[in-house]
Order: sequence, then structure tokens, then C-alpha cells
Amino acid sequence: MTASALDLRPFTHDDLPEIRQTLIDVHNEVYAAEMDDEFNQEFPWFVEHWGGHPDFSCVIGYDSAEIVGFAYGAPAKPGREWWREHLEVEPEKSRTFAFSELMVREKWRKTGAAERLTRGLLDGRSEALAVLLVDVTHPKVQALYESWGFRRVGTQQPFADSPVLAVMLTELPLA
Ligand SMILES: CC(C)(COP(=O)(O)OP(=O)(O)OC[C@H]1O[C@@H](n2cnc3c(N)ncnc32)[C@H](O)[C@@H]1OP(=O)(O)O)[C@@H](O)C(=O)NCCC(=O)NCCS
Repeated sequence: MTASALDLRPFTHDDLPEIRQTLIDVHNEVYAAEMDDEFNQEFPWFVEHWGGHPDFSCVIGYDSAEIVGFAYGAPAKPGREWWREHLEVEPEKSRTFAFSELMVREKWRKTGAAERLTRGLLDGRSEALAVLLVDVTHPKVQALYESWGFRRVGTQQPFADSPVLAVMLTELPLA
């Protein structure tokens, strides 16, 4: 499959009952080898948390009837965006979209699907910035985000049991 053949479908908060299990199934497959990690076991909680946001946005990619992967997020609360503590000078425009999850099933890795999902989620958004967190022990994933325009501005550990995460920020639209 080429990335251009990928069928991207957008979903919102109202669609959560329809897509909830799909997101969980993809996660459980992608993280199958790491499901003894308590943080990974909490994924359904995160789906509820993010999907419960009234402006939740999700893009699921399809290759014919097969699910390729997904990307989702929601606008960060104005004035409480994660990145603020990491920048000495805040950008003039600070409305931020929090890019929470990106997953691509093994069969569709290195096909450009991850970038298509990311751009499908972020293109056309009205926020000035997008922020995401990535495990600091996954430098190749960080490099991938850098290739799409994100830069690392700091690190944080949002929960006591979560890994240390790099905070990555970009201006929107993506270059
Ligand atoms: C991240 C992802 C969407 C990128 O897909 P892609 O653009 O097709 O790129 P790849 O899968 O080839 O990943 C790029 C590199 O990062 C590595 N990588 C990807 N996910 C990783 C992870 N969770 N942990 C450690 N390394 C990872 C890959 O092994 C690859 O390394 P390589 O070039 O030496 O083969 C996909 O790898 C994925 O779904 N990973 C699992 C979920 C994940 O980590 N999501 C990001 C959360 S911030």
C-alpha cells in the first residue's frame, strides 16, 4: 500500500462509542509485548479521558477494510498548556492542540501512513501550536516527529508510574 492510497476518516467526541473498541484493539496489538506494563494497561482510561473532551479529534486510517492505525488529540486548556513551563518567552499565539496518540499497525509501518495520519489530524486545525509527549528512551520516534517539524522543548513525567517524556512542540500548520 502507498500512503496516498490510505483512506483517512475523521471522528469526533460523538463517535467515541463507535470507535472506542477499535482504538483499544489497535493499542493492544501494537503494545502486545509490553502489556505487563501498568501504564499500557491503563490505555482504556486514556481513551475515555481524551475521547471525553468535547473537541476530541481522531483520524483512523483504512486500507480497504483493514485498519492501519490512528492519531488523536484535543485542544489543550488555554493558559494551562504543558509546554509553558519550558519556554522562557511564550509565542504570541499560544492556542495549542495536544496531539495525544499515534499508532500504526506493524504491516503498515514505513509506508508513510504515520505521517499521513499526523497531517490528517493536524491539517486545518485553528490552533497556532501542537504539543506532544514522547518517551525519552525512544529517540527514533522523537526523530520522526522532528522530521515533521516538532522540536523538543523539555521533559516531564505526568504520572508517578509513567515514563519520562520529552515535550515536543511545533507551530501549525506543519511545514
Ligand atoms: C511511531 C509509529 C507510528 C511510526 O511509524 P512509521 O513512521 O512507520 O515509522 P517506524 O515504525 O519505522 O518507526 C521509526 C523508528 O522508530 C522506532 N520505533 C517506533 N515505535 C517505537 C517504540 N514504541 N519504541 C521504540 N522504538 C520505536 C522503530 O523501530 C523505527 O526504527 P528503525 O528505523 O530503526 O526501524 C509506529 O512505529 C508505531 O505505531 N509505534 C508504536 C506506537 C508508538 O510508539 N507511538 C508513538 C507514541 S509518541
